Amino acid sequence: MQDIIDQLRTKQAAARLGGGEHRIEQQHLKGKLTARERLAILLDDGSFEELDMFVEHRCTDFGMAEQKIPGDGVVTGYGTINGRLVFVYSQDFTVFGGSLSEAHAEKICKIMDQAMKVGAPVIGLNDSGGARIQEGVASMGGYAEIFQRNVLASGVIPQISVVMGPCAGGAVYSPAMTDFIFMVRDSSYMFVTGPDVVKTVTHETVTPEELGGATVHSTKSGVADLAFENDVEALLMTRKFFDFLPTNNREKPPRWPSDDPGFREEPSLDTIIPDDPVQPYDIKEVIVKVADEGNFFELQPDYAQNLVIGFIRLQGSTVGVVANQPAVLAGCLDINSSRKGARFVRFCDAFNIPIFTLVDTTGFMPGTSQEYGGIIQQGAKLLYAYAECTVPKVTLITRKGYGGAYDVMASKHLRGDLNFAWPTAEIAVMGAKGAVEIIFRKDLGDEQKISARTDEYKEKFANPFIAASRGFIDDIVMPRVTRERVCRAFAMLRDKKLENPWRKHGNIPL
Ligand code: HXC
Repeated sequence: MQDIIDQLRTKQAAARLGGGEHRIEQQHLKGKLTARERLAILLDDGSFEELDMFVEHRCTDFGMAEQKIPGDGVVTGYGTINGRLVFVYSQDFTVFGGSLSEAHAEKICKIMDQAMKVGAPVIGLNDSGGARIQEGVASMGGYAEIFQRNVLASGVIPQISVVMGPCAGGAVYSPAMTDFIFMVRDSSYMFVTGPDVVKTVTHETVTPEELGGATVHSTKSGVADLAFENDVEALLMTRKFFDFLPTNNREKPPRWPSDDPGFREEPSLDTIIPDDPVQPYDIKEVIVKVADEGNFFELQPDYAQNLVIGFIRLQGSTVGVVANQPAVLAGCLDINSSRKGARFVRFCDAFNIPIFTLVDTTGFMPGTSQEYGGIIQQGAKLLYAYAECTVPKVTLITRKGYGGAYDVMASKHLRGDLNFAWPTAEIAVMGAKGAVEIIFRKDLGDEQKISARTDEYKEKFANPFIAASRGFIDDIVMPRVTRERVCRAFAMLRDKKLENPWRKHGNIPL
């Protein structure tokens, strides 16, 4: 008996030591934590239940039979974040560079399967050199097993990837199919082919950071939702983020205690819209003033900044926010912002998270680069997502609701449940100047006539009354009482039921 206990202790110690002191030191020198140190920060103290600590790879080629480390480069199991169940895996770069063997993949698949059975989210901490080169196709098969599970879990349980080291080759496609990707600056990167292959094929010289670092993916490609300064910040923010999400698609989002009264007035909102209609203002100011305790968890803050997305709470419950940002490109919808918004709307819809939409947009972005890039199809993604979604939708037009963008942004016609406008709203096919230049083209050059026509058009359309007279706007609300009206609207809609017709799946313009 004592022998077995000693053996157990030895194996446990070996598993906990991973690739050994030297490699742990190397990991720390790179500013990275180890797989286990990361889990200790991510999960509630003492909540982690480890599974498969004794799993070893089965490879015998290239001297691998003599190199076995219990756990095989990934720590898996379950635990809690602020008391709520979550399944986790954390790749251990100190063991074969965190590379994915068949056995390593099986461990990840096991916790994904269990998470699906009990309806709990999965968080993956990725730090891996990719497929275990010594194993060949067995390792690639392992990746595909994970991909398959990512897809089946999509829309059933939330999946979050925190990329904290290398993530290259086909390995990027597991995070890509999860709901959110967070990265760490200077120590993580994601690319389909690395700098060496890039140099051979396209003759470009780039560093890993330039090719697929956290900054690139959170500003240029939009692949990453957030970039953090270091491991600790990434993990603490992941905990905070997790608190917004329901644990599966059958649950409502969690409700946390809040001391912020739903009827709180914000007089400063009455003057936030500038007198000059082309002058910008920051829509985030409105969001923060409406949210519980002024708390807005923004996603993709540095990508497609003309559209703002993220989570707030209203009376303790999670609400997804989608808002045109008049301070960037006049809040217009372009390719990137349409994709950004569509994906977020679909996430909220899949997980029963109500959506609050703030509208101030001049419409879709014109130009050859947008048309050649397929704005027709890309913009249709956002339209499709809003039209398909059945969660409670409350919309507020603060200023411009022009053209197609008026329709797209959760309008009444796309089953908006409550559509509000501030008195400053202008709901029209386009701005007065552009409209007059088209319908009174023959008068162009006659400044007086054009100016009179422009004033006439403004008077007729630069207000919310025509839309309200048709019932497209349910009420015109004073800005200062926005929080109260929106809180009441979502409270009324809490048990909303709406179903789309049965179908295998729709065909969103991908
Ligand atoms: C086996 C690996 C490994 C791998 C790293 N190691 N990657 N072992 N399979 N894929 C081992 C190294 O041999 C080394 O072992 C240890 O991990 C640390 O690696 P280093 O190179 O010393 O670390 P570093 O300098 O930080 O470089 C990290 C790295 C580099 C950039 C990730 O290791 C690298 O380029 N690895 C190969 C990446 C790759 O091409 N992967 C296959 C991608 S294709 P020792 O014993 O010396 O500590 C792919 C297909 C997926 O993934 C298919 C899915 C569809």
